[in-house]
Amino acid sequence: AQTVERGEDGVVTVGGIGVTQLAEEYGTPAYVLDEADFRARARAWRTAFGTDADVFYAGKAFLSRAVVRWLHEEGLNLDVCSGGELATALSAGMPADRIAFHGNNKSPEEIERAVRAGVGRIVLDSFQEIVRVAHIAQSLGKRQRVQIRITVGVEAHTHEFIATAHEDQKFGIPLAGGHAAEAVRRALQLDGLELIGIHSHIGSQIFDMSGFEVAAHRVVGLLKDIRDEHGIELPEIDLGGGLGIAYTSDDDPREPHEIAKALTEIVTRECESAKLRTPRISVEPGRAIVGPTAFTLYEVGTVKPLDGLRTYVSVDGGMSDNIRTALYDAEYTVALVSRASDAEPMLVRVVGKHCESGDIVVKDAFLPGDLAPGDLIAVPATGAYCRSMASNYNHVLRPPVVAVREGEARVVVRRETEEDLLRLDVG
Ligand code: LLP
Repeated sequence: AQTVERGEDGVVTVGGIGVTQLAEEYGTPAYVLDEADFRARARAWRTAFGTDADVFYAGKAFLSRAVVRWLHEEGLNLDVCSGGELATALSAGMPADRIAFHGNNKSPEEIERAVRAGVGRIVLDSFQEIVRVAHIAQSLGKRQRVQIRITVGVEAHTHEFIATAHEDQKFGIPLAGGHAAEAVRRALQLDGLELIGIHSHIGSQIFDMSGFEVAAHRVVGLLKDIRDEHGIELPEIDLGGGLGIAYTSDDDPREPHEIAKALTEIVTRECESAKLRTPRISVEPGRAIVGPTAFTLYEVGTVKPLDGLRTYVSVDGGMSDNIRTALYDAEYTVALVSRASDAEPMLVRVVGKHCESGDIVVKDAFLPGDLAPGDLIAVPATGAYCRSMASNYNHVLRPPVVAVREGEARVVVRRETEEDLLRLDVG
């Protein structure tokens, strides 16, 4: 978060509020979200891309009604990938025509809701879905704007589970072998569809722009083939999300204006050489907007030194509020935030309270040697894919999201209660 400061007493404040006060009022663990930072990042993306491009915030990173309203106010669009995300977006007043609907297996009911609501685009992910969406739209007497998601065959340098443009995987239609061209042929024949463009998303937590360059080159190549075969120039391309953020000081993220400049230049150059009109570009950043804007506040429960190894620091949450360390071997940092300490640092592993030894929040970190139960520690950069991937493992209650801004805090997603859990258990 941007508004983080440490006071003379060592207590960290965010948005003008001390973390000790936040812990007292809202309990721990809690995700603390800096609203000003969120809005600033959203605006930076919007301004960087200007009026000739669209920025779709990827709701899967973190979605709540408050966030939808901030995005709406800051002029961003929204990418959703389930009926639940669509419902959240619509209930918070995001205009349907600013919503894109994604997913490799949207149900007929989800498609129907999206078409009825009038979403701006549905991103088609398979041959079967092309026909499915066309039929649903036609039966509702509508013509749905669609893009076709293709896999361009790029190896993004990121964790295998979050790389999505190589061909051997579940998303998209391969460009290779003429499959994408065939998908375009079929979509163009169906009355229920208005094909507006081609979509590519190469993966997530990426720093190297060269993958986007290759992707843009290949997407434009397809636009050219479409022009040559059908005599039409598709008006839009979407280059997906995936821009990396700094989880540790080793990561060196690009600024939105650098990304916008690079992507716009690549697409313009490729189109010039193919003698195509430059299409309208859209992007779908999720992590790069929300990731850095929140941290997780935990209370230390036990401190267990293991001779010659490391000290295990157990907190009151864990893999249920941050699965990323266990799932992707993700790196995080951690800091003592409730007081000052000049004790010698000790090597720690921050672990959760779940019944699993892989329940690790921060693998390796240093914390002051006098760390004790009751201290508050914070793990930064947990705004993306932490609350949204949270679980109830061990019937642990999912933490709230507390938004802070100019000295005021407000719960935007409340803490789960035991009643919430028991309400679902109807046996
Ligand atoms: N667009 C599409 C089509 C996507 O599939 C994704 C992410 C995004 C945009 C946004 O990507 P971002 O800018 O947030 O990297 N749970 C993983 C990340 C999975 C991303 C899935 N798709 C993680 O925690 O790292």
